[in-house]
Amino acid sequence: MKPLFIAGNWKSTKTVSEANEWIDTFHASWDSSITVVLCIPYTLLPIIASKKPTFLLGAEDVSPFGEGAYTGEINAKQIREFAQWVIIGHSERRSNLGETDELLAKKVVQAKEAELKIIYCVQNESVFVPEGIDVIAYEPPWAISAVSNWKTQSPEEAGRICQIYKNKFPTLPILYGGSTNGENIRSFVTQSGIDGALSGGASMDSRKFIDLIANAR
Ligand code: PGA
Repeated sequence: MKPLFIAGNWKSTKTVSEANEWIDTFHASWDSSITVVLCIPYTLLPIIASKKPTFLLGAEDVSPFGEGAYTGEINAKQIREFAQWVIIGHSERRSNLGETDELLAKKVVQAKEAELKIIYCVQNESVFVPEGIDVIAYEPPWAISAVSNWKTQSPEEAGRICQIYKNKFPTLPILYGGSTNGENIRSFVTQSGIDGALSGGASMDSRKFIDLIANAR
């Protein structure tokens, strides 16, 4: 049985009361062969961390700068107070904010310095991956649930592209992201190149995230 890695990403959703409702209804358990990381907005990190969740916590982004005169930025050391993980290079930040490989490399350096573990997102088979990251998430932008209305890439094609990254980074978990849910998760994680999922939409609903984790095995 291969280890599985399931990451959630709330994106720009949830108020404090919505986050509390989610955590109060998230009753799931899984064995130690599955790692679950939930990445959430900065404003919610202290709240969810204070509930001592059974999953690991992550941020959805990190500043490319350290501490200092960088108005509006949240730095890696600040994140590390509440979370162990961070997403870097998500397609929505690359396209909406014009984040470049050069900027992302600076974020990786900052995250490493603060001992944050990194889920690095790639959008096709030839995206540059910097040194020192911990997990790769292949997420074709057109297959993201908010864009595709829950149409996924075919598991075989997703597996083929994930395998390309697996060949380059044999020790890293490689995730597929794009409209995964409790119904389709098995078809992805049974591909030899795929070690888990980066789930946006399904992770926003506690019951759907429970289903996705339960059905991954
Ligand atoms: P989705 O998001 O699960 O809502 O498609 C995936 C992603 O943002 O990579």
